[in-house]
Amino acid sequence: MTTNVTWKSRWTFILAATGSAVGLGNIWKFPYITGEYGGGAFVLVYLGCILLIGIPVMIAEIMVGRSGRSDPVHSMSKMGKSAGKSGNWGAVGAIGILAGLMIMMFYSVVAGWALDYVAQSISGSYYQASTASIEQNFSQLLNNPSEQLLWHSIFCLITGSIVAVGVTNGIGKSVDILMPILFGFLLLLLGYSWFNGDFSAGLHFMFDTDFSKLTSEAVLVAMGHAFFTLSLGMGAIMAYGAYFPGKASIGKTVLTIAALDTVIALVAGMAMFPLVFANDLTPGQGPGLMFVTLPIAFSNMVGGQFFGTIFFALVSIAALSSSISLIEPGVAWLEKYGIKRPISTFSFTGLAWLGGIACIYYGEVFDALDYLTANIMLPLGGLMIAIFVGRALPRNTVTEEVGMGSGILFKSWWFVLRYFAPIGIILVFLNSLKLI
Ligand code: PHE
Ligand code: NA
Repeated sequence: MTTNVTWKSRWTFILAATGSAVGLGNIWKFPYITGEYGGGAFVLVYLGCILLIGIPVMIAEIMVGRSGRSDPVHSMSKMGKSAGKSGNWGAVGAIGILAGLMIMMFYSVVAGWALDYVAQSISGSYYQASTASIEQNFSQLLNNPSEQLLWHSIFCLITGSIVAVGVTNGIGKSVDILMPILFGFLLLLLGYSWFNGDFSAGLHFMFDTDFSKLTSEAVLVAMGHAFFTLSLGMGAIMAYGAYFPGKASIGKTVLTIAALDTVIALVAGMAMFPLVFANDLTPGQGPGLMFVTLPIAFSNMVGGQFFGTIFFALVSIAALSSSISLIEPGVAWLEKYGIKRPISTFSFTGLAWLGGIACIYYGEVFDALDYLTANIMLPLGGLMIAIFVGRALPRNTVTEEVGMGSGILFKSWWFVLRYFAPIGIILVFLNSLKLI
């Protein structure tokens, strides 16, 4: 009985955390920023940040969530106090809640684009169309605020309804089935690119490392994206850490989640760039990359209308399992003050909805929110979490709570968390401020 329960909650955690991690960050954002920041060298820095900053911080976040068994604010202040330190560490959780709200503002707009493309796929608007008119389809959407508003509102409404009911039972099971199907579709697109795209140009672009193209801005964006894609630095994974069973080791689970997230991003990129080069598109065309390259594939594929519909629906669902984790920490926090779940969900999602409207009408708001959250707030939150676990908490508490034994696995995590991750984050910040 006991083992069964443990297994079940570990599984719940894996589903929730993978659902949060895998989203628009992998399929929409990673390919387009890779295109904007010149490919190979950017990808390498991103992979390095996943390994040496993301993974250690994720272990730390889960550990805090599992020990605190509460929302990020209360988990951190409780742990801080019981270690004889300040309860003010809860502020890190509060900033994270704000970051989640700010991310939701533009995330729900992009998720709305994905929903719009479900409709476009059904109506066949891009089927057997020319590359030029496929490009035009996307710019038409960008120039049509009311159409964006419609889908943005629908997406916020769905997210809110799920969070209002409670996340634990909501979409866990469907994610379990749908994520492997999404991955299957990405492989299908990869196969299409292999046969019909300029596959070798795509791979060279993604994996040839030319460090002369690497600006300090690119390094900051690569690090920021490592946090964004793994849902780190804002308490989402910490909040889900409360589902993590008592004794199970955190390390292996984290490696699985990070590996899945990374593979999905890389496959998405490898499916898109060969089409970019075969169709004389520019890799650095920005946020429209996915909405232009993939319809090109579907438009020429037998059954492309059907496949396109399913694919964009799956992307929307992946976005949904991420968006609920953007809202959940804030709602859980307000619940502690006796505010009813539907009311706090309604307020939070309502704010995000308003912010999204600003994003739709003012591109600068969209860009500013994206930049501020991914490149500044999440790494800063991650830095604070690394310092909290690596330096504020006593080593024996951490050894006990993280449950990774005291061997080489623990020791290397402890070293990276105490030295490499914080110093790395600070150096990237200083570098982008042109101070070093
Ligand atoms: N990780 C999600 C993605 O890649 C985005 C996200 C960021 C979700 C932060 C929750 C918290 O799409
Ligand atoms: Na991700």
